[in-house]
Amino acid sequence: MESLVIDKLFGGIYKNKKVLITGHTGFKGSWLALWLQRMGAQVYGLALEPETNPNHYSLLNLQIESSIQDINDFDQVNKIVKRIKPDIIFHLAAQPLVRLSYLDPVNTFQTNVMGTVNILQACRNVPNLKAIVIITSDKCYENKEWIWGYRENETMGGRDPYSASKGCTELVVSAFRESFFDQPDMPLLSSARAGNVIGGGDWAKDRILTDLVSATSNAESLFLRYPHATRPWQFVLEPLSGYLTLGWRMLEGKKGFDGAWNFGPNKENNVSVIELVQEAKKNWDEIKYDVDRENHPHEAGFLMLDSTKADKLLNWRPVWGFSKTVKHTIDWYKEFYQNNKIISDEILLKYIHEATNQELIWCKE
Ligand SMILES: NC(=O)c1ccc[n+]([C@@H]2O[C@H](COP(=O)([O-])OP(=O)(O)OC[C@H]3O[C@@H](n4cnc5c(N)ncnc54)[C@H](O)[C@@H]3O)[C@@H](O)[C@H]2O)c1
Repeated sequence: MESLVIDKLFGGIYKNKKVLITGHTGFKGSWLALWLQRMGAQVYGLALEPETNPNHYSLLNLQIESSIQDINDFDQVNKIVKRIKPDIIFHLAAQPLVRLSYLDPVNTFQTNVMGTVNILQACRNVPNLKAIVIITSDKCYENKEWIWGYRENETMGGRDPYSASKGCTELVVSAFRESFFDQPDMPLLSSARAGNVIGGGDWAKDRILTDLVSATSNAESLFLRYPHATRPWQFVLEPLSGYLTLGWRMLEGKKGFDGAWNFGPNKENNVSVIELVQEAKKNWDEIKYDVDRENHPHEAGFLMLDSTKADKLLNWRPVWGFSKTVKHTIDWYKEFYQNNKIISDEILLKYIHEATNQELIWCKE
């Protein structure tokens, strides 16, 4: 890795900082741990054991301090946070799957809502803690099935247990900010809402691209459950660059950066499942699919984030358009299945190079 270049990203703020990531054994958390470690941060993780085999976290073999702990156990969470005394926390640990939330609503609400309450309660009275970024979802919004993007000040909601749990998490964050954190010398508290993330290293079930890749690696065809559902697809590093930009400003102690933030893709990335699969097939000819016509539990039909606030106030923008988003995702899996190679570092560097070419704020010295 080009560590010198990487050290200076985000104004060099993360170098030697203690960063606690909850959910580091998961898809997004493992990419965030990789990126932060390559920037010279002291990375700590708090999560359950990886749920799939293979999984991106184990494949990366990062040398970070990992605490395997259920966030529903407040006493243990509290002990870990107080012992680490992080400068910043990125809270990603959650039950993140809509279909699983129908099967297990209790655990979904427990982990996503009360787990977040436990993290926030543990963050009170931590010397040195300056910033907390809580990761929720675009699904936190009351979905009005309309054509416009959702803004940060719109109503929370959610028809399925997962979406509702993320709407509730947002209310918890607001209440903790108003009640406990909105005072001098307390850490700044924000929440971040991103869209449907794709990228190498995800093997969670019931996500379209991972299902597609698993089927392809077994020479099978995939039935598409909701071929015409439109989603804001984004490469995994896109929301992470948003979280890191937000964390940078919060670590600088700048007021006005707490609150809620959308980090969605450009409009061209709001496409249907079938279009996504067709694009993937352009990059991997072995992909086969069919359309499933049975009824399935309700999932929102159309959802789009309006990220004007992040654009104007954080100067954050997505880097990769739709075809590169899909290409780099498929490239990762093809390298893994065909050559037994993990190309996460290479992909991270490509992303940074392109962001540098686009003169994005977080790449400037
Ligand atoms: N992947 C997406 O498309 C997407 C989109 C929007 C928001 N999000 C949000 O981003 C975050 C990360 O999602 P992901 O896709 O990486 O999910 P993931 O399933 O890959 O990872 C989830 C992580 O949470 C941890 N976790 C789950 N239950 C826990 C518990 N009780 N105690 C401790 N740790 C626990 C897991 O161990 C894992 O590390 C989640 O909050 C999710 O809701 C994801």
